[in-house]
Amino acid sequence: MKGDGAVGESAGYHVPVLLNEVIEHLNIKPGGVYVDCTFGGGGHSRAILEKLDTTGKLVAFDQDEDAKQNLPDDKRVLFVPHNFRHVKRFLQLHGIARVDGLLADLGVSSHQFDEGSRGFSTRFDAQLDMRMDQRQEKTAMEVLNTYSEPQLHKLFEQYGEVTNSKTLARTIVEARKIAPLQTINGFKDAVQGIVKGNPNKYFAQVFQAIRIEVNDEMGALKELLQQVPEVLKSGGRAAIITFHSLEDRLVKTFFREGTFEQDLNPFEMTKVSNPLKLVNKKPIEATNEETKRNPRSRSAKLRVAEKI
Ligand SMILES: C[S@@+](CC[C@H](N)C(=O)[O-])C[C@H]1O[C@@H](n2cnc3c(N)ncnc32)[C@H](O)[C@@H]1O
Repeated sequence: MKGDGAVGESAGYHVPVLLNEVIEHLNIKPGGVYVDCTFGGGGHSRAILEKLDTTGKLVAFDQDEDAKQNLPDDKRVLFVPHNFRHVKRFLQLHGIARVDGLLADLGVSSHQFDEGSRGFSTRFDAQLDMRMDQRQEKTAMEVLNTYSEPQLHKLFEQYGEVTNSKTLARTIVEARKIAPLQTINGFKDAVQGIVKGNPNKYFAQVFQAIRIEVNDEMGALKELLQQVPEVLKSGGRAAIITFHSLEDRLVKTFFREGTFEQDLNPFEMTKVSNPLKLVNKKPIEATNEETKRNPRSRSAKLRVAEKI
């Protein structure tokens, strides 16, 4: 273990976005129990720990083994190397029924992008992998070589907003008839004839779509949100940072309605009561100063809800 708990440490691993905004809106109680669902480089976690006294506790989740290297040597921290979609189960396992606050800073870390062998970035050649959790079986290679043309079309359209997603899906299916797609460069070569606009931007959108699918990012977020009302104490807060409009829509809907089910109970025709209230009506975005310093923060949206 390394680290002395200083905020900003592991900045080479990942620079936390909206750091002050998250800390301010979590309204941290010094003796409280907090969950960081996405520990990563630990930037947000360290800032939470600075607000906690010796009786406080931080439960940090990350499904990527690499995040462990950033853990501070601090007895108040409990690391859970698993998917946050199981948050309630793991809290229970550790004897924690409810918490005072929960944070999720979604997506991948800069470290995951910069580590060429992980296959997340178009800047490097590597196996088509893109798994955050390396224990998982599904890889980018599996998605690209086994998904049907309509499945590929849908994921590129929905998760990447790729303009020619239908043509892309067809091109992939044709290319893999000749030889399976195995590497990033092999994949880029196979589809180079249909790239639209700026190739860097195009491949960034395509890779984002594949990554979201490989890691079932929408499914995990939905399951996490559904557990938020159950794991928060009354007055406890959940802060979620998204980087994609589909994710933001899920968070917005759930925080506003408290459910993904139909608004009305078909038998009683009464509105399901929402156990959450919004702390901020509009999402909080990065300041100009932050976007200049950290371009990754440009698309970040923070939404916060409080358990009634
Ligand atoms: C954007 S980074 C978080 C950065 C962190 N807030 C910091 O200050 O360094 C997201 C991290 O969450 C992890 N992650 C993403 N989705 C996850 C999930 N469903 N379950 C557990 N960890 C997840 C990734 O492996 C990555 O390390």
